Amino acid sequence: MTADLSKGAAWMNGEIVPISEAKIPVTDWGFTRSDCTYDVASVRNGAFFRLEDYLDRFQASLSKVRISVPQTKDDIREIVHSIVAASGLCDSYVAMVASRGVPLIPGTRDPRQCGNHFFAWCIPYLHVIRPEVAARGAHLFVPEDVRRIPPDSVDPTAKNYHWGDLTRGLFEALDAGFDTALLLDHQGNVTEGPGFNVFSVKGNSVRTPDMGVLEGITRRSVLEVARELGLETEVRPIKLDEFLESDEVFTATTAGGIAPVARVNDRVFSNDAPGPTTKRLEAAFLSLFDRPEHRQPVNYSS
Ligand SMILES: Cc1ncc(COP(=O)(O)O)c(C=O)c1O
Repeated sequence: MTADLSKGAAWMNGEIVPISEAKIPVTDWGFTRSDCTYDVASVRNGAFFRLEDYLDRFQASLSKVRISVPQTKDDIREIVHSIVAASGLCDSYVAMVASRGVPLIPGTRDPRQCGNHFFAWCIPYLHVIRPEVAARGAHLFVPEDVRRIPPDSVDPTAKNYHWGDLTRGLFEALDAGFDTALLLDHQGNVTEGPGFNVFSVKGNSVRTPDMGVLEGITRRSVLEVARELGLETEVRPIKLDEFLESDEVFTATTAGGIAPVARVNDRVFSNDAPGPTTKRLEAAFLSLFDRPEHRQPVNYSS
C-alpha cells in the first residue's frame, strides 16, 4: 500500500515519509538547544515562488550558524521538489531545515562534535494571519516588557527557532484580545512579529525596519513592487511613535503574503480597515506569482 502523503511529506535520511512519521532524536541539538537554521518557501498553484532566493538565503544561514550538511543547493532544490511532487500538494508550505544534530561523543559540549544533518518537509499551505483576520485588518499588540532578542545575541537574518521572545509576545497579545504581536528592540524601534515582517505606509513612502529582522523574501518582493508602482521605499529604523503615525500598516510573510493591519495597540488605521496603498501593493505582489522568472513548476508526475 502506498503511504498517504496528502497531509504532508518529509525527506528524512534519504527517504520520503508521511509528515506524521518524520522524527528527530531527543538528543538532537536542534531540539535541546534550538540549534538549527531553516527556511520556508511556498508552492502556489503548482509552482514554487522565488525558490532560488529561498535556497540562497538558506545557504547563507548555514554559513552564519556554522552548520555544514552534505546536501548541495542543487540537492536541496531537488529534494524540496520531490516531496511536494510526492505529496501532490498544489499549495504548500515547504520547510528546509539543517540541525546541529546529535552529539557524536555522548554528552559533548563541543558544537563541532555533532552530526549536522538536513531534512525537509511540506504541508498544506497556511496563513500566519488567517484570511478572515487579514480581510478585516489584523490587530497587533506591542508588548512593553517583551523585546526582540538583540541581533548580537541571535542573528535574526539566519532564520532560527529561538522563538522565546516571539512566543511570549504572542501570549501577551492573545491575552489582551489582539490577533498577534509586534516586538520592539531595546532602542524602541519596531522589529517584526511571530513569522512576519512589518511595513508602514506614510504618504507616498513605504517603510520597513532595516535591523533586527529577518530579511524576508516577501519583504523583498514588496519593496520591488512598491518601486514598480512609483512609491518611495525606505529601509531604516522606525521608532514606535513614528510607526503609530503611519497612514497604513501591513505584515508580509511567505505563509500568507501581505496582511493589512487595522489596529496597533489603541491606534486605528485607515478607518479600521485595509488601506488603499496596501491593497494596491497586495494586487501587485500577487501578480508576481505569474512571472515566469519567479515560477518553478512542480512535476507531479515525476
Ligand atoms: C521572524 C520572521 N520574520 C519575518 C518572516 C517573513 O519572511 P519571509 O517573507 O521570507 O517568509 C518570517 C517568516 O517566517 C519570520 O519567521
